[in-house]
Amino acid sequence: MSHDMSEENLPESHGSAGEVADHGNPFADPGLPAHEPRRTDIDERAAKRAERQVSLMFLVSMVATVGFIVSYVAIDPDKIVYIFPLGHVSALNFALGLTLGVALFMIGAGAVHWARTLMSDVEIPAERHPIEADDEVRADVIGQFRTGAAESGFGRRKMIRNTLIGSMALVPLSGVVLLRDLGPLPEKKLAETGWKKATEAQPLELVNMSTMLPLKPEDIVVGSLTFAMPKGMTTHDEDFQQQIAKDALMLVRIAPEDIKDEKSKGLGFEGILAYSKICTHVGCPISLYEQQTHHALCPCHQSTFDLADGARVIFGPAGHPLPQLKITTDEKGFLVATGDFAEPVGPSFWERAR
Ligand code: FES
Repeated sequence: MSHDMSEENLPESHGSAGEVADHGNPFADPGLPAHEPRRTDIDERAAKRAERQVSLMFLVSMVATVGFIVSYVAIDPDKIVYIFPLGHVSALNFALGLTLGVALFMIGAGAVHWARTLMSDVEIPAERHPIEADDEVRADVIGQFRTGAAESGFGRRKMIRNTLIGSMALVPLSGVVLLRDLGPLPEKKLAETGWKKATEAQPLELVNMSTMLPLKPEDIVVGSLTFAMPKGMTTHDEDFQQQIAKDALMLVRIAPEDIKDEKSKGLGFEGILAYSKICTHVGCPISLYEQQTHHALCPCHQSTFDLADGARVIFGPAGHPLPQLKITTDEKGFLVATGDFAEPVGPSFWERAR
């Protein structure tokens, strides 16, 4: 069957809105349906009721923000509570999440309810036009914006305006109180490590972290990577995790002629160099070593250090080289340290000189 869509065979148009308006053009703009006023447009009591509902939402947001701050100050961070169906959760985290969620949700819900019930919902068709607007169009847009601002009632409906300003002003306080978690300052805690007990007179042995045995130079072969910690430390120590996060060492042996940095060579023993294992970016433990290039790679953000050149940063976000520990051997032939690192290990912090 063939369909003849010539002008004579087009269906007859009745010319009403929403139907074909132009007999010569089946795709003519049907126009917008007539605007239907909402209840709040014609009933002042309904409008007042909507206004109170919107304000109530903003008020709930304000109360929730105050609840957030009170929770942060008053709830013990170690307190665990049972919440169905979550199970056992931190009371502080639950309270912070709940109150901040309510505070933000109520601002959004209030704004949506305000737009749907009280702001103008008259649709204005925008014709396509060149991107660059001429002066007349700009003036028209500014006029429309001003009309929209006036119709939104932002200036006239003072209760909504004031409660919205109040809720928006209070919500950022949630972030301000969290600044407390940036403290306290580390002071000397990061400037010293467990190696500070070592002196020239009483050196401290390096212990293999896997075997817990003291290390001799012959245990460290060229191309190998060995992890070490100070003698006397055990995994049963109460503060083991805090200590190992500062004391852990990375031992490598590089042929002396391949060591480019003379100061670094002087801190080592017969090509054995002892660097901090803690990345100077944000403190991840470094565990990857490329024996051909002498590069150590941090798995967290790929900072790469050249261990043959004083652990200089050659790639990645780390801010400074890995600190190096001065080592030698004692009279029994064990590898020992004779002092602490010359600079703080790990990432930079505020009191650090560099
Ligand atoms: S912690 Fe090592 S690169 Fe970020």
